[in-house]
Amino acid sequence: MLPFKSLISSKQLTAESIGEIFEITDYMQDVVETKGRIDTLSDKVVALLFFEPSSRTMLSFQTAAQRLKAGPIFAQNASSTSFEKGESIEDMIKVVAGYSDIIVMRHAQPGSAQIAADASNVPFINAGDGGNEHPTQAIIDVYTIHRNKGRLDNLHVVFGYDSLQSRSIHSLTRLLAQYPGNKFTFIGPEALFPNQAMLDELTTLGAECDVQDCAAVTKDVDIIYLNRLQEERFPDLQLFEQNRKKYRLTRADVEGSDALILDPLPRIDEIAVEVDALPNAVYFKQTSYGVPVRMALLASLLGRA
Ligand code: NCD
Repeated sequence: MLPFKSLISSKQLTAESIGEIFEITDYMQDVVETKGRIDTLSDKVVALLFFEPSSRTMLSFQTAAQRLKAGPIFAQNASSTSFEKGESIEDMIKVVAGYSDIIVMRHAQPGSAQIAADASNVPFINAGDGGNEHPTQAIIDVYTIHRNKGRLDNLHVVFGYDSLQSRSIHSLTRLLAQYPGNKFTFIGPEALFPNQAMLDELTTLGAECDVQDCAAVTKDVDIIYLNRLQEERFPDLQLFEQNRKKYRLTRADVEGSDALILDPLPRIDEIAVEVDALPNAVYFKQTSYGVPVRMALLASLLGRA
């Protein structure tokens, strides 16, 4: 049993709950590969509210719901819902909670996940609240790291190139910082390094942090975690345009390195396509774990795992 009703931030995730989620995920992965679908949630309705663009997160939650035989219901564009008429997040969530057994929401406003979870009388999952957090992605990321490296501690992880605005990087660093001996190097343009509050938070949790303005660090590195510059979150697009082509991982950068290369995707400019063929480039595999991880979360938060 996970010790929370709703998942809003990776700050809620302890090593113990991650261990529990991994066990259920392994079981769900087996279901995916063998039976395909199981009856676990055949009496449940999962509400999928995606008010910001999404491919992987929405489709993998939908797939997860269907493989558990739950009936998914959708709302996809803020403009096609009552938000357009000025309805508050709280009211919208109260209504949807009356139709469903669990709510998954992505919304552009940082902090919207907490507002929604507080308004909901059914379990709630944050599928990304603006540039703030993306905790289910962080679980997929640590699951991928664990499967490939066999541990989540004593890792040197390089993060780039928009650690300031990437919710995936915020959630993953907060989660990994809880494990002993982890060291983070943030790369990219200086303007997109994590802010001081984030660096202080990670250091307090126990991670050693440093920053470097460059496109690649590979020496003594276990993981390279890249995410596109978050174009939609730039107050001034000039900074985005100046840097989008400048920071890019090439095959020459990582040839011969055994660092695992991750990216929550979509990939835009941050990784050259030629890198895909390297055995350590695991981002497409990483994406596939979205289904069993999200099956595990849905089943677990509904008390069925
Ligand atoms: C990420 C997101 O939406 O924050 N993608 C995802 O969920 N797989 C990363 C991104 O959009 O850059």
